[in-house]
Amino acid sequence: MSGSSRLFSPFSLRGVTFPNRIVVSPMQMYLAPDAVATDWHFQHLAKYAVGGAGCVFGEVLCVEPRGRNTHWDLGIWDDAQVPPLARIAAFLREAGAVPAAQIGHCGAKASRQRPFDGHGPLGPDDAARGEPPWTPLGPTDDPAAEGYLVPHALTAAEIATIVDQFAAGTRRIDAAGYDFLEVHAAHGYLIHSFYSPISNRRTDGYGGDRRGRMRLALEIAEAVRGNWPDDKPLSYRLSCVDGMEGGWTIEDTVALARELRARGVDTIDCSSRGVRGATSLANLEASRRPAVAGYQVPYAEHVRRETGIPTMAVGLILTPRQAERILEREQADLVLLAREALVDPHWALRAARELEPDAGWQRWPPSWAWWLAQRERTGIEYPDGWE
Ligand SMILES: Cc1cc2nc3c(=O)[nH]c(=O)nc-3n(C[C@H](O)[C@H](O)[C@H](O)COP(=O)(O)O)c2cc1C
Repeated sequence: MSGSSRLFSPFSLRGVTFPNRIVVSPMQMYLAPDAVATDWHFQHLAKYAVGGAGCVFGEVLCVEPRGRNTHWDLGIWDDAQVPPLARIAAFLREAGAVPAAQIGHCGAKASRQRPFDGHGPLGPDDAARGEPPWTPLGPTDDPAAEGYLVPHALTAAEIATIVDQFAAGTRRIDAAGYDFLEVHAAHGYLIHSFYSPISNRRTDGYGGDRRGRMRLALEIAEAVRGNWPDDKPLSYRLSCVDGMEGGWTIEDTVALARELRARGVDTIDCSSRGVRGATSLANLEASRRPAVAGYQVPYAEHVRRETGIPTMAVGLILTPRQAERILEREQADLVLLAREALVDPHWALRAARELEPDAGWQRWPPSWAWWLAQRERTGIEYPDGWE
C-alpha cells in the first residue's frame, strides 16, 4: 500500500476537515486542582497532535461541580476555566489536529475516588484527607452501583437547570476555540442513566417508555446545538448497548441516533455499557473473558448502516492495519484510540510509515524527519549481540 491509505484520507463534517481518520479518545487525567487545566493536560494532549493524530479530544468537561467523577476532574462552569483550555486548543490546531472537547455530567456516578485511589464512592476517610463526598444526582435515588452513594432524584426544574448548564458550557468551549464537540452520553453517566431502562425507573415525562427516557438526551442535544456554531460538528457518545438483561439495545441506539440527527448531531461515537458498574469496561472485566480487539466496532457499523449517520469506532483499536480495515469495510468513518495512544503517542506517525511506506518520513514533523531520514540513509550496523 502506498500513498492511498484510508486512514490518512481527509474527512469533513460541516465546516471542519479532519486531516486523517485517527482521533485520540477522551481520557480523564484526574489531575485538575480546582477543576482547571494545567500543564499536565497541555502536554498530555499536545503530544498526540505532534504525534500525527487528525483530531485530539480532551477529557470530559463537567458542566457543574456536582457532575464531576472526582475532586480532580475538569470543569466548564466558570469563565476562569477557559484560558488554559484555549491554550491547549490553539496548540492542537497549530500542530495540525482538530481540537475537540467533550462535555458531560457524571450523574449518580459522581463523588468517587480516583481510579488509583480506590475508585469507590467517597467516604469519611476521603473527607479526612480533604476530599469530602457530595450528593450525586440521578434519575432516581437508586445508587449507580452496589455500595455507591444514594443520589438525589432530579426534579423536572433541576433537569432544566442542567440542560442550561450544558448550553453555557458549550458557549465556553466555543469561546476556547474548539472546533469539534462531543456530548458524553455513555458509560452510565447522567444522560445514559436516563435513557437506560436499567437505571431510569421514573414515572414522569423523563421516564417510562423509550421516548420519555430519551427526552433528556434530546433536550441536551437541542441546547448544545443551539449554542454551537453551525459550521462546527457535534458528536454524541452513546453506550450502544447496556449488555444486560432488560437493558438498552442496539435497536434503541438506532432510534436515538435518528432523533439526534434530526436535532443537528453529525456523528455517533459508539461506545457501550457502564450502568451498574465502575467503568464501561467493568462488566467486561467481571466476565473474566479476555477483551476482544475492536469489540465495539460492530456497534459503529450497525448504526452507520441503519441510519446513514457517520460513526466513530472505539475500543481496543490497536494496530494500523486493524484501523485501516475498519475504514475499508465501511464500519466507521473515524477511529478512536485511548489506551494505545498512551502506549505510543506517535501511533499515527508510525501508522503512516507502516501503511504508506513510499511516503518515507513525509508525514513526520520536518525538524524530526530530516534527521530520521538521514539515519535511515546511513544505515546501521549492530555489533555482535546488540541487535
Ligand atoms: C485514562 C482514561 C480516561 C478516560 N476518560 C474518558 C473520558 O473522559 N470520557 C470518555 O468518554 N471516555 C473516557 N475513557 C474511555 C476511552 O475514551 C475509550 O472509550 C476506552 O478506553 C476504550 O478505548 P481503548 O481500548 O482504545 O482504550 C477513558 C479511558 C482511559 C484509559
